[in-house]
Amino acid sequence: MKHTKVKDLLKSTTTLQEVNAKGWVRTFRNNQFIALNDGSTLNNIQCVVDFENTPDEILKRITTGAAVSVTGELVESKGAGQTYEIQVKKIEILGDSDPDKFPMQPKKHSLEFLRENAHLRVRTNAFGAIMRVRSVLAFAVHSYFQKKGFVYVNTPVITGADAEGAGEMFQVTSLPMDKLPKNEEGAIDYKKDFFGKHTNLTVSGQLEAETYAMALGQVYTFGPTFRAENSNTSRHLAEFWMIEPEVAFNDLNDNMDLAEDFIQYVIKYTMDKCGDDLKFLEGRLLEEEKSKPQAERSELALLDKLNFVLENNFKRVSYTEAIDILRNSTPNKKKKFNYIINEWGADLQSEHERFLVEKHFKCPVILFDYPANIKAFYMRLNEDGKTVRAMDILFPGIGEIVGGSQREERYDVLVEKMKVLGIDEEELSWYLDTRRFGSAVHSGFGLGFERLVLFVTGMTNIRDVIPFPRTPGNAEF
Ligand code: 4AD
Ligand code: MG
Repeated sequence: MKHTKVKDLLKSTTTLQEVNAKGWVRTFRNNQFIALNDGSTLNNIQCVVDFENTPDEILKRITTGAAVSVTGELVESKGAGQTYEIQVKKIEILGDSDPDKFPMQPKKHSLEFLRENAHLRVRTNAFGAIMRVRSVLAFAVHSYFQKKGFVYVNTPVITGADAEGAGEMFQVTSLPMDKLPKNEEGAIDYKKDFFGKHTNLTVSGQLEAETYAMALGQVYTFGPTFRAENSNTSRHLAEFWMIEPEVAFNDLNDNMDLAEDFIQYVIKYTMDKCGDDLKFLEGRLLEEEKSKPQAERSELALLDKLNFVLENNFKRVSYTEAIDILRNSTPNKKKKFNYIINEWGADLQSEHERFLVEKHFKCPVILFDYPANIKAFYMRLNEDGKTVRAMDILFPGIGEIVGGSQREERYDVLVEKMKVLGIDEEELSWYLDTRRFGSAVHSGFGLGFERLVLFVTGMTNIRDVIPFPRTPGNAEF
């Protein structure tokens, strides 16, 4: 008999003579009530075991974590908390679990403990919910762009271009570390390396995506990216997933409209599909916040916060306006910021971004027109000659969630900028071809997928929203 998913059993509209369910025992109470979970939903199905007619040998093996198959009648439940339950006629232990050794005991575990057990933490309610939400969000990303006629492009993970400057890179090599070949100058001879040149893991698919936008019009990437920065924060991963749309003929305003519409769509889509999981995560967050001082608690519950993003436009503020606000802010005057903002041109730290979003505007903010010298070489220079058409989207509790820009489409201006920054023209010749042949205004952005999952799930550490996080000093599993 084919087993039925717990999700479908709980949604049943009638009682059923015989059903089969397979899953893992969450708890077994009074030698009679199994809470069975199969991952299809947050909710367990209660399975009532006929303990008088079940051998002791079997009852002893129904322990937290064990895999079981139960067959029986689906009946309306008399107990509180569930509509249907299974009156078990036959139970089979598929895989035993030693109750004294199984780390995921039915009690509250710290997030640190769960991180050390990342291969088992998904068997808890919270991580099951987070990973289902993550999956639905990923699908929503594709749904949004596909509906709008964007082409999904898979840009390379291994790249020979290391000029973007988005972050420190991980080198990819097959050279023997203990016997590195040297050239005549005594330097490492990368001609002997696998690709015949020095290569890295990509920090972004943007430059390749731009070449595709210049033919297909609207494209997006969604793949893993790698940064070897030593940032041990709750918002940085060494391996994370990024979504990068790139659109021909879009200027910076179109780019902001796209980003805002996109974010609102994926959040709405996920709220529609993941009601139970998000309600659970909202409760988890409320619990967690009880242990925090009043001032640090968020003013809105999770679902209200998500609705707020759907119902309110993102506030669009120029870098110059933001600097004025920050310069005159209380934490700046009282020297409460670690980095005091004195003048125009200062790079914004996350403390400043969070002040703007959480204290000043109290809504998502799009900052635009940044000073050219704190942004990447490919951003479109404004007529003022000192700012570029960059935009960062800042979210409450997260800080920067999106970074993007209108691209410099003028060949001469771009080459001049590369010269100033010492970027090798030869190496990026293929990129410059987009400006040599049929160049056009175009724009795009990158959204850090895990930062989005953080926001939607209300989790606070980015290590808790990716199955197996990679961070400095940590590549377990
Ligand atoms: O601002 P970034 O560096 O922009 C780019 O890479 C551009 N090439 C994007 C583009 O225009 N196509 O990164 C984009 C986003 C950030 O806003 C942040 O959400 C996320 O990627 N991000 C990280 N997420 C997790 N861990 C890290 N170490 C991250 N670095 C960036
Ligand atoms: Mg950025």
